[in-house]
Amino acid sequence: MTDLQLMELAVEARERSYAPYSGFHVGAALLGKSGKVYLGCNVENAGYSPTNCAERTALFKAVSEGELEFTAIAIVGGKGKEIAEFCAPCGVCRQALAEFCEGDFRILLGTPKDIRVYTLNELLPFSFGKADLH
Ligand code: THU
Repeated sequence: MTDLQLMELAVEARERSYAPYSGFHVGAALLGKSGKVYLGCNVENAGYSPTNCAERTALFKAVSEGELEFTAIAIVGGKGKEIAEFCAPCGVCRQALAEFCEGDFRILLGTPKDIRVYTLNELLPFSFGKADLH
């Protein structure tokens, strides 16, 4: 699975985004260590707070299917039909990913034509995790 393929899968996932309230459509493609890819989109709700981000949709799908380790995620988002140049994951999703992903977990942002690669350590420094509870 190349970075470009993972980004293209995120674009495909974004097509199924349910975002009638914000109009901001997000897609994510999460690569498990098994090699399997889990797709997710944001799913909004009239009650607003039950809304689930694309990244957590993908993560929870994966974990519920028994995949607990991951190497990378691609994320694309933007208003309407357009994919923004850059859609960074929200803080809640960074924390949710940190439960299962190492610091060198790769986060691909941007567009298929301009992929920018970050690590979880870069996007969530000084994080609170399971090691703090031991
Ligand atoms: N959203 C995501 O799906 N992922 C993010 O990391 C940022 C925000 C969604 C939530 C909501 O449906 C819409 O984008 C606007 O915030």
